[in-house]
Amino acid sequence: MTLSLGIDLGGSAIKAGAVDVADGRLVGEVTTRPTPQPATPAAVAAAVAALVAEHPEATGTVGFAFPAVVTDGVARTAANVDHGWVGCNGAELVEGATGRPCGFLNDADAAGLAEMRFGAGRGVRGSVLVLTLGTGIGTALFTNGELWANAELGHLEVRGEEAEHRASARVRSALNLSWSDWAARVNEVLDVYHRLLWPDLYIISGGVTEHWAEFGTRLKAGAPIVPAQLRQHAGVVGAATYAAGLVRRP
Ligand code: BGC
Repeated sequence: MTLSLGIDLGGSAIKAGAVDVADGRLVGEVTTRPTPQPATPAAVAAAVAALVAEHPEATGTVGFAFPAVVTDGVARTAANVDHGWVGCNGAELVEGATGRPCGFLNDADAAGLAEMRFGAGRGVRGSVLVLTLGTGIGTALFTNGELWANAELGHLEVRGEEAEHRASARVRSALNLSWSDWAARVNEVLDVYHRLLWPDLYIISGGVTEHWAEFGTRLKAGAPIVPAQLRQHAGVVGAATYAAGLVRRP
């Protein structure tokens, strides 16, 4: 069994875990480092190289889930990372820093691909919207299991503001919102998404799902809402699986 390494860059931490891509199982510990500030390409490449060195058991490809639009291995936006990433080929950067082949993709797409293959979306037909609630709001849209890559619905305007500026997990902590006040904000966002897209299922991922008991039952939309089965590790698992060529992104 060759293990791939999945890496997921968030606003506060960068995480890495060895994944058996046959079944999406994490093998051993997920290790983390603080996200470099500023998170420039060079600083992130050094952190990725250190994480790769910490996981000698993962000898396969490296998957890197990144919080921006990514097309053909190149980051195109930088809402919550250093602007030096715009136009940067993240796959080549990681390959240069680690000597490993790298698959580079949007973080919500990575989480969504993992959930659709191994988690809450497995076998679900129809349309599924996966949301990652973290520093921003990431979204991944699937229809009959196929991804619409780089859906940036976290930037859709809700009540005069970008959705992620009203209802991300970061906003909850920054404004010290109660679970119920924050869930009400997330519901406003879900309402806008539902009126535009009518998904059959919502899957919520991100570190905040550790607190699902506090807010999960307060969430309401026109379709069922479930937590990601891979919880905060969906991005790591999806990145590794994508890099190994087992899931594809159109
Ligand atoms: C970015 C997305 C990303 C999301 C979650 C947004 O600000 O534009 O590309 O998926 O944050 O990290």
